[in-house]
Amino acid sequence: MDDLAGKTAFVTGAASGIGLGIATALAQAGVKVMLCDIEAEALDAAVAALQASNADVAGVVADVSLKAQLQAAADATVARYGKVHILVNNAGVGGGGGYGEWNDASWDWTIGVNLMSVVWGVEIFGPLLESHGEGGQIVSTASMAGLIAAVAPAYNVTKYGVVALSEGLRPALAGRGIGVSVLCPGFIRTRIMESQRNIPDRLAGSVALPPEAGEDDTFRQMAIAAITHGIDPLYVGELVREGIEGDWPYIFTDTQFEPAVDARFAAIKAGFDKIRDRKPQY
Ligand SMILES: NC(=O)c1ccc[n+]([C@@H]2O[C@H](COP(=O)([O-])OP(=O)(O)OC[C@H]3O[C@@H](n4cnc5c(N)ncnc54)[C@H](O)[C@@H]3O)[C@@H](O)[C@H]2O)c1
Repeated sequence: MDDLAGKTAFVTGAASGIGLGIATALAQAGVKVMLCDIEAEALDAAVAALQASNADVAGVVADVSLKAQLQAAADATVARYGKVHILVNNAGVGGGGGYGEWNDASWDWTIGVNLMSVVWGVEIFGPLLESHGEGGQIVSTASMAGLIAAVAPAYNVTKYGVVALSEGLRPALAGRGIGVSVLCPGFIRTRIMESQRNIPDRLAGSVALPPEAGEDDTFRQMAIAAITHGIDPLYVGELVREGIEGDWPYIFTDTQFEPAVDARFAAIKAGFDKIRDRKPQY
């Protein structure tokens, strides 16, 4: 998508962190942006700050893990802006608990926000992006945890799912004028380690919470430190804007985890090597 000015984007999880960085970078390029988030107060503040810079933006509150609320947010976007050209499936939550800690509510919450919202986003917005014939782009935020299973199991599973969905949709939607990109950030300076603030009321008290400070595990402390000193979300937003302009299949933020991805590919190749000289029996 060469010329972003005057186009319209819908961005989920846009009141904070990477989503706000993407919304800001797109608004700075002259894109009209509908910011969507579950947190009304943070959303109002984000929209007001962008409007103060003369950006044409608006906000809509939705819990994207509920399909009806995502549909209502899409309806509000069409009502406000008419055409939609760019969908950014970015809302996400971390956590879920490791082996021996997880429970059904934690899996439901993580899968709902991180994966089903992306499935529904494509389903609801795909026809809107296609309808005007001006071209469209879908960007979905996965993670490096979508390429190396380095974080909590539910988080890894949803992020691998977002990578798989994006890779599969890219060739399928190319003929329909829709580009598909997957964003795989490294450590970005956001509020992701405070995701428990986003647990909806219907799941309150059921989701496995991260350990209290003090009884924290080493991995969580390391992740908090890395994210506290992580990459600027606006820089990520600018990369995403460039990725949309260039229809990048993968949008990475840095090369920190490239050796870990290489190691995964090497382990997969070693699996093939074990049976390379065998003759399959049919
Ligand atoms: N921060 C990182 O290091 C990092 C790394 C890789 C991937 N990511 C991914 O980036 C995305 C954005 O996260 P972030 O790091 O900016 O964290 P963040 O907590 O700062 O922002 C997440 C936003 O999503 C919103 N949200 C949460 N649940 C929602 C729901 N059900 N409906 C609508 N909105 C909801 C939150 O209110 C918040 O505004 C997530 O998908 C996350 O998994 C983050």
